Amino acid sequence: MRIIKTYTYEEMSSKAADIIASQIKSKPDSVLGLATGSTPKCLYEKLINKYVEGELDFSQVRTVNLDEYKGLDKDNEQSYYYYMVNKFFNHINIQEGNYHLLNGMAEDSDEECKRYNEIIRSLGQIDLQLLGVGLNGHIGFNEPNDYFSKEIYLDALKEKTIKSNSRFFKDPEDVPRFAYTLAIKDIMQAKKILLIANGKNKAEIMREAICGKITPQVPVSILQLHQDVTIVADCEALSLI
Ligand code: GLP
Repeated sequence: MRIIKTYTYEEMSSKAADIIASQIKSKPDSVLGLATGSTPKCLYEKLINKYVEGELDFSQVRTVNLDEYKGLDKDNEQSYYYYMVNKFFNHINIQEGNYHLLNGMAEDSDEECKRYNEIIRSLGQIDLQLLGVGLNGHIGFNEPNDYFSKEIYLDALKEKTIKSNSRFFKDPEDVPRFAYTLAIKDIMQAKKILLIANGKNKAEIMREAICGKITPQVPVSILQLHQDVTIVADCEALSLI
């Protein structure tokens, strides 16, 4: 595990963007696993800047997103589809068929998991998986559980996650109670993992992630067993280590 400590959120975003840029330059048709949430917002802006300045070419890049709320459609501003298309894909030269997201409106959840599973298999191994972390240690939407998940699934969100994510919704009641997520196994099979975190409210979970016991009750702790993890986090998020 490599840990890169930064002083600010912006510096965290720049360092993480540089790592993703190196990945794309060394393998232009890289498969990137992408994340949403507030943490990667500035990182996506940095990547867009690199594209605009001619430093990066996304024409061969393929991406697969980590998770999606069940029940939110593509036009809903809180859906991860809307987030990715509007905050990132529309501003770079990625080809439309090359980015993949879960469909929150799929009628049959099992079929949707199956469909996405097939996409992941067809892409082969994820070269670089970007991750944020939830306050209870969830990665993607893999909530604390008695076991580490093996297959893409529909997870019931925990109260802590619903409360934390309600900051993005007008009414806390609007936060979906279920979400699709790549499994821990899919994440662990990525060649490289890049975890980003910032802010004081992430300090406790970052301590558990890096120094704590490996347990499915703290899903992010499994990253201690991955052979190529880079953590880029600001000093507040790393303040308890
Ligand atoms: C959400 C997402 C995660 C994300 C996490 C942290 O629930 N499902 O993929 O990493 O919360 O979010 P934030 O970056 O806003 O702290």
